[in-house]
Amino acid sequence: MYPLQLTINGKAHETNVDPRVSLLDLLRENLGLTGSKKGCDHGQCGACTVIVNGRRINSCLSLAVSHDGDEVTTIEGMASDDGLSPLQAAFVRHDAFQCGYCTPGQICSATALLEELERGEPSVVTKERVELADEEIRERMSGNLCRCGAYNNIIDAILEVAEARA
Ligand code: FES
Ligand code: FES
Repeated sequence: MYPLQLTINGKAHETNVDPRVSLLDLLRENLGLTGSKKGCDHGQCGACTVIVNGRRINSCLSLAVSHDGDEVTTIEGMASDDGLSPLQAAFVRHDAFQCGYCTPGQICSATALLEELERGEPSVVTKERVELADEEIRERMSGNLCRCGAYNNIIDAILEVAEARA
Protein backbone atom coordinates (compact mmCIF):
# COMPACT_ATOMS: atom_id res chain seq x y z
CA MET A 1 0.00 0.00 0.00
CA TYR A 2 1.19 3.50 -0.85
CA PRO A 3 0.26 6.71 0.96
CA LEU A 4 -1.69 9.14 -1.18
CA GLN A 5 -2.82 12.70 -0.60
CA LEU A 6 -5.17 14.40 -2.98
CA THR A 7 -7.86 17.03 -3.04
CA ILE A 8 -11.24 15.96 -4.33
CA ASN A 9 -13.95 18.55 -4.91
CA GLY A 10 -12.06 20.95 -2.66
CA LYS A 11 -11.71 18.49 0.22
CA ALA A 12 -8.34 17.04 1.27
CA HIS A 13 -8.09 13.25 1.39
CA GLU A 14 -5.33 11.11 2.84
CA THR A 15 -5.44 7.43 2.17
CA ASN A 16 -3.36 4.36 1.44
CA VAL A 17 -3.80 2.75 -1.91
CA ASP A 18 -2.83 -0.44 -3.67
CA PRO A 19 -0.65 0.67 -6.61
CA ARG A 20 -2.84 -1.39 -8.99
CA VAL A 21 -6.02 0.57 -8.18
CA SER A 22 -7.34 2.97 -10.81
CA LEU A 23 -8.40 6.49 -9.92
CA LEU A 24 -11.97 5.48 -10.83
CA ASP A 25 -11.96 2.58 -8.38
CA LEU A 26 -10.40 4.74 -5.68
CA LEU A 27 -13.20 7.28 -6.11
CA ARG A 28 -16.01 4.75 -6.27
CA GLU A 29 -14.89 1.91 -4.02
CA ASN A 30 -12.64 3.57 -1.45
CA LEU A 31 -14.15 7.04 -1.15
CA GLY A 32 -17.81 6.38 -1.95
CA LEU A 33 -17.93 8.90 -4.80
CA THR A 34 -20.04 6.81 -7.13
CA GLY A 35 -21.05 9.64 -9.45
CA SER A 36 -18.21 8.75 -11.81
CA LYS A 37 -19.37 5.72 -13.72
CA LYS A 38 -17.63 2.59 -14.94
CA GLY A 39 -18.86 1.87 -18.44
CA CYS A 40 -16.10 -0.04 -20.21
CA ASP A 41 -13.09 0.22 -17.87
CA HIS A 42 -11.00 0.39 -21.05
CA GLY A 43 -10.87 4.08 -22.00
CA GLN A 44 -13.53 3.73 -24.67
CA CYS A 45 -16.73 5.30 -23.32
CA GLY A 46 -15.87 8.35 -21.21
CA ALA A 47 -18.37 7.50 -18.45
CA CYS A 48 -15.54 7.76 -15.93
CA THR A 49 -14.36 11.24 -17.00
CA VAL A 50 -13.15 13.47 -14.17
CA ILE A 51 -11.12 16.68 -14.17
CA VAL A 52 -7.59 16.51 -12.77
CA ASN A 53 -5.66 19.74 -12.38
CA GLY A 54 -7.98 21.36 -14.92
CA ARG A 55 -7.72 18.61 -17.56
CA ARG A 56 -10.32 15.95 -18.28
CA ILE A 57 -9.13 12.38 -18.10
CA ASN A 58 -10.55 8.88 -18.21
CA SER A 59 -10.15 7.89 -14.58
CA CYS A 60 -10.39 4.18 -15.44
CA LEU A 61 -7.09 4.45 -17.33
CA SER A 62 -5.17 6.28 -14.63
CA LEU A 63 -3.60 4.71 -11.57
CA ALA A 64 -4.65 6.41 -8.36
CA VAL A 65 -1.11 6.28 -7.03
CA SER A 66 0.04 8.60 -9.82
CA HIS A 67 -2.21 11.39 -8.53
CA ASP A 68 -0.44 12.26 -5.31
CA GLY A 69 -0.96 15.98 -4.68
CA ASP A 70 -3.46 16.39 -7.52
CA GLU A 71 -6.74 18.28 -7.52
CA VAL A 72 -9.63 16.19 -8.73
CA THR A 73 -13.12 17.37 -9.60
CA THR A 74 -15.92 14.85 -10.04
CA ILE A 75 -19.60 15.28 -10.83
CA GLU A 76 -20.22 15.54 -7.06
CA GLY A 77 -18.20 18.78 -7.09
CA MET A 78 -20.09 20.52 -9.88
CA ALA A 79 -23.03 21.97 -7.99
CA SER A 80 -22.54 24.68 -5.37
CA ASP A 81 -24.63 26.19 -2.58
CA ASP A 82 -26.20 28.34 -5.31
CA GLY A 83 -27.50 25.27 -7.11
CA LEU A 84 -26.61 23.31 -10.20
CA SER A 85 -23.72 24.35 -12.39
CA PRO A 86 -24.76 26.11 -15.63
CA LEU A 87 -24.03 22.92 -17.57
CA GLN A 88 -26.00 20.73 -15.19
CA ALA A 89 -28.96 23.10 -15.47
CA ALA A 90 -28.64 23.17 -19.27
CA PHE A 91 -28.60 19.36 -19.42
CA VAL A 92 -31.88 19.33 -17.47
CA ARG A 93 -33.40 22.09 -19.61
CA HIS A 94 -32.47 20.36 -22.86
CA ASP A 95 -33.39 16.86 -21.67
CA ALA A 96 -29.83 15.83 -22.51
CA PHE A 97 -30.02 12.30 -21.09
CA GLN A 98 -32.22 9.26 -20.93
CA CYS A 99 -30.81 6.61 -18.56
CA GLY A 100 -28.26 9.10 -17.23
CA TYR A 101 -25.39 6.63 -16.99
CA CYS A 102 -23.10 8.63 -19.27
CA THR A 103 -24.21 11.99 -17.88
CA PRO A 104 -21.62 12.54 -15.11
CA GLY A 105 -18.84 11.92 -17.62
CA GLN A 106 -20.53 14.08 -20.24
CA ILE A 107 -20.86 16.99 -17.80
CA CYS A 108 -17.29 16.69 -16.47
CA SER A 109 -16.00 16.50 -20.02
CA ALA A 110 -18.10 19.47 -21.16
CA THR A 111 -17.00 21.51 -18.15
CA ALA A 112 -13.34 21.01 -19.08
CA LEU A 113 -14.20 21.60 -22.74
CA LEU A 114 -15.51 25.09 -21.94
CA GLU A 115 -12.21 25.88 -20.23
CA GLU A 116 -10.29 24.57 -23.26
CA LEU A 117 -12.34 26.87 -25.51
CA GLU A 118 -11.59 29.81 -23.23
CA ARG A 119 -7.88 29.03 -23.41
CA GLY A 120 -8.21 29.00 -27.22
CA GLU A 121 -6.98 25.44 -27.50
CA PRO A 122 -7.57 23.97 -30.98
CA SER A 123 -9.06 20.56 -31.64
CA VAL A 124 -8.56 18.10 -34.48
CA VAL A 125 -11.42 19.84 -36.32
CA THR A 126 -10.34 23.41 -35.79
CA LYS A 127 -6.59 22.78 -35.96
CA GLU A 128 -5.58 26.40 -35.46
CA ARG A 129 -8.91 28.26 -35.39
CA VAL A 130 -11.28 27.92 -32.48
CA GLU A 131 -14.84 28.46 -33.62
CA LEU A 132 -17.90 27.57 -31.69
CA ALA A 133 -20.07 25.26 -33.78
CA ASP A 134 -21.99 22.02 -33.60
CA GLU A 135 -19.22 20.13 -35.43
CA GLU A 136 -16.59 21.52 -33.09
CA ILE A 137 -18.48 20.47 -29.96
CA ARG A 138 -19.11 17.00 -31.41
CA GLU A 139 -15.41 16.52 -32.09
CA ARG A 140 -14.42 17.69 -28.63
CA MET A 141 -17.03 15.44 -26.99
CA SER A 142 -16.21 12.43 -29.16
CA GLY A 143 -14.60 10.60 -26.22
CA ASN A 144 -17.93 10.48 -24.40
CA LEU A 145 -20.35 7.91 -25.74
CA CYS A 146 -24.08 7.84 -25.03
CA ARG A 147 -25.74 4.55 -25.76
CA CYS A 148 -29.15 6.20 -25.40
CA GLY A 149 -28.26 8.49 -28.28
CA ALA A 150 -28.97 11.78 -26.51
CA TYR A 151 -26.25 13.45 -28.56
CA ASN A 152 -28.34 16.18 -30.19
CA ASN A 153 -29.66 17.43 -26.86
CA ILE A 154 -26.21 17.14 -25.23
CA ILE A 155 -24.74 19.31 -27.98
CA ASP A 156 -27.59 21.83 -27.64
CA ALA A 157 -26.98 22.08 -23.89
CA ILE A 158 -23.24 22.58 -24.27
CA LEU A 159 -23.63 25.10 -27.09
CA GLU A 160 -26.08 27.13 -25.04
CA VAL A 161 -23.68 27.44 -22.10
CA ALA A 162 -20.67 28.01 -24.35
CA GLU A 163 -22.45 30.80 -26.21
CA ALA A 164 -23.59 32.38 -22.97
CA ARG A 165 -20.01 32.38 -21.67
CA ALA A 166 -18.66 33.76 -24.95
S1 FES B 1 -15.11 3.50 -17.98
FE1 FES B 1 -13.44 4.76 -18.43
S2 FES B 1 -13.59 5.16 -20.54
FE2 FES B 1 -15.20 3.73 -20.14
S1 FES C 1 -28.19 8.90 -21.28
FE1 FES C 1 -28.07 6.71 -21.32
S2 FES C 1 -26.03 6.36 -21.98
FE2 FES C 1 -26.27 8.49 -22.21
